[in-house]
Amino acid sequence: MSLSKIAAALDALLEWEPGTAEPMLELPPDPKLGDAAFPCFALAKAWRKAPQQISSELSERFGLEGVEASAAGPYLNFRLDRSAHAASLMEEAEVRPVEQSGETVVIDLSSPNIAKPFGVGHLRSTVIGAALYRMYAAAGHNPISVNHLGDWGTQFGKQITAYKRWGDERKLKAAPIRESLDLYVRFHDEAESDPTLETEARDWFKKLEGGDEEALRLWKYFVDVSLAEFDRMYERLGVSFDKVLGESFYNDKMGAVVEELRQKGLLEESEGAQVVRLDDEEMPPCLILKSDGTTIYPTRDLATAVYRHDVLGAEKLLYVVGAEQSLHFRQVFAVLKKMGREWADACLHIPFGLMKFEGKKMSTRRGKVVFLEEVLDEAVSRAASIIEAKNPQLAQREAVAEAVGIGAIIFGDLKNNRIGEIDFSLEEAVQFEGETGPYVQYTHARARSVLRKAGAGQAGAEAAGKAAAETYVWDEASWELLKRLGDHPSELRRGLQRHEPSVIARYALDLSKLFNRFYHHNKVLTAESVDREVRLELARLTAQRLRWALDLLGIRSPEEI
Ligand code: ARG
Repeated sequence: MSLSKIAAALDALLEWEPGTAEPMLELPPDPKLGDAAFPCFALAKAWRKAPQQISSELSERFGLEGVEASAAGPYLNFRLDRSAHAASLMEEAEVRPVEQSGETVVIDLSSPNIAKPFGVGHLRSTVIGAALYRMYAAAGHNPISVNHLGDWGTQFGKQITAYKRWGDERKLKAAPIRESLDLYVRFHDEAESDPTLETEARDWFKKLEGGDEEALRLWKYFVDVSLAEFDRMYERLGVSFDKVLGESFYNDKMGAVVEELRQKGLLEESEGAQVVRLDDEEMPPCLILKSDGTTIYPTRDLATAVYRHDVLGAEKLLYVVGAEQSLHFRQVFAVLKKMGREWADACLHIPFGLMKFEGKKMSTRRGKVVFLEEVLDEAVSRAASIIEAKNPQLAQREAVAEAVGIGAIIFGDLKNNRIGEIDFSLEEAVQFEGETGPYVQYTHARARSVLRKAGAGQAGAEAAGKAAAETYVWDEASWELLKRLGDHPSELRRGLQRHEPSVIARYALDLSKLFNRFYHHNKVLTAESVDREVRLELARLTAQRLRWALDLLGIRSPEEI
């Protein structure tokens, strides 16, 4: 909003670099004190004066049309002339297309493991990563999303062995992950008394690595059926990927990396294995080749990063992966740096904390699995019964319940700082009150319904609303809503700087609260002339901006709930 103009005027007055004052501006604790406040403590040392004195000097020197500056103790408060600023604020609140001019950002997200359940960490990675993807796009960058499927490793030897012994194709087709998991569990149970199973599994993996036709066919089959199941979930979550490149994609790309490490003298032997020492970084060595000569997870990630930079053209590489893998990524980035890839500095691990469901871990240990699909179904059915009670006449109830139930889960995740642990309560998340996705969706639908009833959308309504802004008597509730509507560029910037979708979720909650307060205090449909025009315009801008925020988070905005 015009706060940026105040900030620019402060920068000029203080002879600061442009952009310095903006993050220092605060909202006064009580809106009656003004629209923005500048705390003068930070200047006290350099000026050798008390902050109170500084604020009073600045209040005399500050000059910006339509803005009144006054000192209040150590703070310099600013008050905008509401009628003079309203129309331009409305203009700033408008949703507009952005120009594509930014950098290419490759985002590693979701990345579940084939033939294993989609864990809660993969769910978090999917929703956080997809939100960041949309935020980068909204800011004019060129993001590329990559699903780095865990589709290679010794476990496939076990999977093939178990399938050949006890597998049932029909069951595998009907519920691939469940059946794979059962086979996996059975393999481990029986292997305790039958050691030939382990040998057989090793042989199958060797065959797979050697390109054996049957092994490859079975492996491909497991990948396909698992992917089909994952895709069903992605569709419900509204997520798609620019690229699905599993770990197996790098099988023929690791040799070059290992060779380069060797040539640069970075490989050392340690207990039969080949490692890169990272003592100077105070990290344990990064394992590159196991003692039997096979590659492992870090080797794959080295080849992956090189591919993303050299082939996909990444200028920035993000890895949206749980915090428990922090050391792994620090090691990989440090090795890249040692290889002379300066762009290693543009590799960022975006970690997140654990999420528990009603205090329980979504565990993949034997017999204790909660499948993500069950969690989604449960959320949708709870949403359906709340909707049924609230609005039994609603058309398209099923589709709305799906949008609300899934939205509740996504929002329940994204409203939190990503790094903290989340104790997720489905019961709370699906409510239409409180800090929830359904609350935001409901507020959006409410604004849309006002507009529908007003027959809005007729030509000239927007222009009329803006023209009326100057004569409208700006009450506190209307004014606060309007100001907050214009905050979207700084919110998006802040969200991207910190890689925090929660900034957008919090913004959507704020707007919803402000709109509901505005709507409670002001008649809209029954108001007349100027009042009606301005208030309808505020409803239109709110609906647009909430939809913008929900879109960024990957949540649908039904017209009616
Ligand atoms: N599949 C891995 C897991 O489930 C996550 C992969 C993350 N991405 C990466 N480039 N390492 O733990």
